[in-house]
Amino acid sequence: MSPTFLLHHCPIYLGPLAESIPSWLKNQDYSQVFVLCDENTRQNCLPYFLEKTGLPYKVQWTEIKSGEGEKTLATCEKIWQSMLDAKLDRRVLVVNLGGGVIGDMGGFCAATWKRGVDFVQVPTTLLSMTDAAIGGKTGIDFHGIKNIIGVFQQPAAVFVDPVFLQTLPQRELRSGFAEVIKHALIGDPNLSDRLLSMETIRSANWTDILQKSIAVKVRVVQEDPLEKGLRMLLNFGHTIGHALESWFLETDEPLTHGVAIYIGMICEAGFLMGKRDLRAEVVALGQNVFPHLKIDPNIFPAIWERMQQDKKNSSGTVRMAVPDEMPFSLKIIEPDQLAVERSLTFYNTLS
Ligand code: GLY
Repeated sequence: MSPTFLLHHCPIYLGPLAESIPSWLKNQDYSQVFVLCDENTRQNCLPYFLEKTGLPYKVQWTEIKSGEGEKTLATCEKIWQSMLDAKLDRRVLVVNLGGGVIGDMGGFCAATWKRGVDFVQVPTTLLSMTDAAIGGKTGIDFHGIKNIIGVFQQPAAVFVDPVFLQTLPQRELRSGFAEVIKHALIGDPNLSDRLLSMETIRSANWTDILQKSIAVKVRVVQEDPLEKGLRMLLNFGHTIGHALESWFLETDEPLTHGVAIYIGMICEAGFLMGKRDLRAEVVALGQNVFPHLKIDPNIFPAIWERMQQDKKNSSGTVRMAVPDEMPFSLKIIEPDQLAVERSLTFYNTLS
C-alpha cells in the first residue's frame, strides 16, 4: 500500500492498518515496539491493532487514564517511568494508539526520551485522524493552559484507519467534526458541500471526508510547518474555543473540544469584515450536529482573561486567525475585550 499523502518526510496512510503498517514496516529497522494507550483504546483498539498488524518485534505497552485533564507533566512522568521500566533503547518505535491526548503527549514523551526516538500516530478518534495526529505538534497542558509546553516533531508515519470511527461514541464524533468543518472553511468548498449533504454524522462516508479534510491540513503544514504564518489558520476558532474549553475543564460540566471550537468559530467568524459571510457558513455546517448551549455572561471576563495566554499573541495583544477569501487566505484579527464579549452574546442568541 502506498501512502495517501507525504508531508515532508512523513507518510500518511488512509486505509486498513492490516495493509498500511506491514507495508511501511518492510523498510524500517526497529528493535522493539512500545504502545501507549488509555483504558478505552487498550480495550477497544489494542487487540485489533496487534492482530491486524502482526508486528515482527517484541511489543510492550503502557496505559494511562483517558481525558484532557490527564495531559499533564505528571502523566508524562508516568510514561517516562514506564519507558524506563521497559528498558527501551533508542531504536524503539513508540506507537501512540488513541486520540489527541495520547498522540500529543506520547509524541512529546517520545520526542524527549533519550533526546528523541521514532514514534508513529495511530489515531482512533475523528479529531486525531483529521487534525491532532497530523503535522508534528506534540505537547501537554500546564497550569490549565492548553498545549503551552511542547515541541514540533514530525512522526515517522501516521496510520489513519476509519474502522475505529464505527464504534466511536457520538460525542467523540462531534468533537472531531468541528475540525473537519474548520478544514472545509479554510480550503475546500467541495468538503463543505459534502458536509452539508450528510444526513447524519453516523452515516457519513468517513473515508471520503477524511481524505479531503486531511488534504487541507497537509497543504497548510507543508507550507508552514512551524506556524510562522499560514499554519495559524488552523487555529481558527481556537483562541476563544481554547479559552472556553480550559475554563469549563475546571467545572463539573467540561465542554468537548469540538463544541468549544464550534462556538469559538462562530464567535471569531463574526470579526471578518468582507464579502464572505463566514459566520453563516459555520452555523450552517454545524447546526444539526452541535448542541445549542448558553454561555453565562458572568464568565465572559474569565474567558477574556484566558485568551491572554494564547500562543498566537504578540506583545500582549490577543490575536485570532480567521480564514478570509477561499482558499487558504489568513486574516489576523486583534480583538478587544468588549468585542469578544459581544461575539459570545451573539452566540447566545442562536440558542
Ligand atoms: N491543530 C492545529 C495545528 O496542527 O496547527
